[in-house]
Amino acid sequence: MNQELVYRFAEVTEAAALAGFNWLGRGNKNAADGAAVTAMRQCLNQLSMQGEIVIGEGEIDDAPMLFIGEKLGQGGVCVDIAVDPIEGTRMTAMGQSHAVAVLAAGEQGSLLRAPDMYMEKLVVGPKARGVIDLHKPLLDNIKAVAEALNKPLSELTLITLAKPRHAALISELQEQGVRVFAVPDGDVAAALLTCTPESGIDMMYCVGGAPEGVVSAAAIRALGGDMQARLLPRHQVKENNAANRMIADSEMTRCQAQGVHVNQVLLLEQLVKSDRVMFVATGITQGDLLAGITRKDGQLCCETLLINGLGSAKIRRLQSWYPLDHAIHV
Ligand code: FBP
Repeated sequence: MNQELVYRFAEVTEAAALAGFNWLGRGNKNAADGAAVTAMRQCLNQLSMQGEIVIGEGEIDDAPMLFIGEKLGQGGVCVDIAVDPIEGTRMTAMGQSHAVAVLAAGEQGSLLRAPDMYMEKLVVGPKARGVIDLHKPLLDNIKAVAEALNKPLSELTLITLAKPRHAALISELQEQGVRVFAVPDGDVAAALLTCTPESGIDMMYCVGGAPEGVVSAAAIRALGGDMQARLLPRHQVKENNAANRMIADSEMTRCQAQGVHVNQVLLLEQLVKSDRVMFVATGITQGDLLAGITRKDGQLCCETLLINGLGSAKIRRLQSWYPLDHAIHV
């Protein structure tokens, strides 16, 4: 992957973010996602590469989503692409903060191929690299991270998703003195905050989407942090009823087809097999990681974070200005 391609990927998430922004606060998360998908597909198809979606929003039958196995681009270098055209569809639909458009890419074979299902994720920054182990209870991991960071448990901050499935865990950790930040949605941004020293976040733990997990893993690997994960069938996360068991059966079939296993701990090196990966995200609404899109002087301004495992500067922030009607024309 050359440097020019890296910058072109920034235009891809900017197009998706601008398309999603058109649907901000309109209560229609599917329309926002659909617009972002269309914009992303159009932009990716213009690039000089032989891209393949390895992490997407569905399988071939789930059109118009960017589906796993979809080939994109004008030809050239072979690239694995993982996308989440809007990470935070609900936030976009309801005008809430922290929605972003994200993409990760790497040389062929570098990103884990996994279906769109649930994934348990544990993430830490570079100073706690090598001390996490998802086979062990979360509290043991928290203690190991506190020791690596040389802080008492009461000084450690863990971020998670404020989902009912995490409620008991959140109370238990808070009783143990750990500071827990629970955000409604958006575990990609939460994962990246562990590698952003000024955020004050030491760890991220949650059960969330597998696509978000692999996209995050690319950034975590490029930034020198650490992550472990485990694919979970739906009936183990949601209610264990017939409908969810049926979904779980199809998830397991797709896992088999892609050569991955459920309930097995995946190391960062298995999630992302090379340092030659990049991650790009553009803010849609204001968040801790990125500014949201703003209108000023007849233009739309967006902020993009570029994390490049190959570059001499690993992190870049771009500010880009587009005409107000840009999203309508992509
Ligand atoms: P969406 O963009 O699909 O709404 O995802 C937001 C998100 O919070 C992710 O960050 C997270 O991985 C996932 O939803 C959790 O899924 P669920 O809402 O089913 O608990």
